[in-house]
Amino acid sequence: MSLAGQVAVVTGASSGLGWALAQALATEGCKVGLVARRRERLVELAGQIEKSGGTTVFAAADVTERPQVIAAIYDIAARLGPVDLLIANAGVGAPTTVDPFNVSDIEKMFRVNVLGVIYSLEAVLPQMLQRRRGHLAAISSLAAYKGLPGESAYTASKAAVNVFLEGLRIQLRSKGIAVTTICPGFVQTPMTEVNEFKMPWLLTAEEAARRIVRALKHKRKVYNFPWQTALLMKLTRWAPDWLLERMMRTYNENPPFPKTPL
Ligand SMILES: NC(=O)c1ccc[n+]([C@@H]2O[C@H](COP(=O)([O-])OP(=O)(O)OC[C@H]3O[C@@H](n4cnc5c(N)ncnc54)[C@H](OP(=O)(O)O)[C@@H]3O)[C@@H](O)[C@H]2O)c1
Repeated sequence: MSLAGQVAVVTGASSGLGWALAQALATEGCKVGLVARRRERLVELAGQIEKSGGTTVFAAADVTERPQVIAAIYDIAARLGPVDLLIANAGVGAPTTVDPFNVSDIEKMFRVNVLGVIYSLEAVLPQMLQRRRGHLAAISSLAAYKGLPGESAYTASKAAVNVFLEGLRIQLRSKGIAVTTICPGFVQTPMTEVNEFKMPWLLTAEEAARRIVRALKHKRKVYNFPWQTALLMKLTRWAPDWLLERMMRTYNENPPFPKTPL
């Protein structure tokens, strides 16, 4: 179950959960490849990992640009060795409004959260198939389990990730490649810092990363956490529409947009 010596690539490593995951994997002895758009943040993270004795390289790329993300991950593999573990973590979130209907934000969420994951998988899959070994993972969300008012696009994009990875997992099971879908609840990161409501069972990015690494070591198929929020989401599936509409009315009156527009 040890990850020591493995080559792990994390997309969206420049912030939040991706940053904490890269550090946690380096602590486990992985050689870590870092991908995101903000080069200066990757330089800073790589410096921190190296200072702690870890091995890391980075390649800046936008995961929505297919040739860019493939070139970045190829470049990392050329320097660290074939990728054993890919964590497609890069993601964005913004509320879905109906008046105006914010279609450009909706498109952006699907490009990053769904196509960005698929392009990242594409960069490592041929080599994993050839070697008959590897582990693919994506950071989805507990939000994948219910279409929420004011979060239609984000929840739908994460549901797409869950279902896509489920099919892939079954297709790859006899080919030596594991697939893990990670569904966190609320994690304290720049993505959630705009939320004005009290986030239940909020975890620090470091704690979330620690739990994710443990799930990856166990090659979990789907990892929903923390269990309290996972249970709440399951109950939400049974809740009547009128109740959800009422519970999320205040949220929808003043939805929390990210500081930097998507
Ligand atoms: N925070 C939570 O409560 C929570 C809960 C469940 C799931 N998640 C999921 O966890 C993942 C990480 O989110 P976070 O909370 O850590 O958010 P965050 O702090 O905003 O980090 C998002 C990361 O994604 C990268 N990214 C965004 N667009 C990109 C693009 N086009 N190309 C490459 N990288 C891109 C960003 O890097 P650059 O800007 O440098 O490109 C950044 O490193 C996301 O998939 C999110 O949906 C978060």
